[in-house]
Amino acid sequence: MTDYTAAPDGHADAPRPGTQSINAERWQESWDRQQTAFMPDREQRFAAMLDAVAATTDGRPPRLLDLAGGTGTISLRALARFTGADVTVLDQDPVLLAIAGASLRDRGTVIDADLSDPGWRAKLPREGFDAVLTATALHWLPAERVAALYAEVREVLRPGGIFANADHMPEESLPTLSAKLRDHARGVRENRYATGAATSWPDWWKLAAADEVLAPKAIERERIYPSARHHHEWTPPATWHVEALRAAGYTEAGILWRGGTDAAVVGVR
Ligand SMILES: C[S@@+](CC[C@H](N)C(=O)[O-])C[C@H]1O[C@@H](n2cnc3c(N)ncnc32)[C@H](O)[C@@H]1O
Repeated sequence: MTDYTAAPDGHADAPRPGTQSINAERWQESWDRQQTAFMPDREQRFAAMLDAVAATTDGRPPRLLDLAGGTGTISLRALARFTGADVTVLDQDPVLLAIAGASLRDRGTVIDADLSDPGWRAKLPREGFDAVLTATALHWLPAERVAALYAEVREVLRPGGIFANADHMPEESLPTLSAKLRDHARGVRENRYATGAATSWPDWWKLAAADEVLAPKAIERERIYPSARHHHEWTPPATWHVEALRAAGYTEAGILWRGGTDAAVVGVR
């Protein structure tokens, strides 16, 4: 393994290009730092979701599906918190899945599947999950697909199992304040990029593409998420999600956590 003591591009959180194998720890740290620049309260939403898992599993090790889980962020936190947790990360990004696989090794399952295809469920090794958790991901899907996905997710939960989705979900009754909160957060973030305290989204992907091991994965990724194509983002208020969960048949649906313009909604099967 290459020595990582120096960061070649000036970013303190940059894994060094030219590695022999994926340095999972450094890429996780780098991904977290990049994501936390968008969501300073990122860990709080994860903790709130895992509190709901703890509250609904009566001390049993949870069976958890980390939906659109990227590098396995939620799974890694679940493994750290719950001894014996059974975690499955599902995503379609080859770069992030490679990092997830290198991080989990034999501690979890990694599935390559596209959530825009209702057939994603057929790729799961099991159903009857205690919890399906997802964060900062479903805004990439159109409204009708999110609504259908909510019903599909319900089917893979055990009775009493929970589904939680944390994402940008502004409070409908605060349009002016929400705009100001977003502007303020953007200013703080850009200042962090300017000072080198965090790596921006495009710069993070450049680092991945420059890494000897991840470079082929980055080429594969370009076919799935072409960098020239503007990414569709759809971020309705939390009330839309709660209604969609009710329509999908969850017995209870509501807001589990809120932080500024972001929220986590939850549905109980
Ligand atoms: C910003 S990342 C968040 C990853 C992780 N949940 C986290 O919080 O660090 C969004 C993730 O959603 C995944 N995603 C978006 N659309 C998807 C789809 N149609 N099928 C599978 N994964 C998808 C992306 O590949 C990416 O890993």
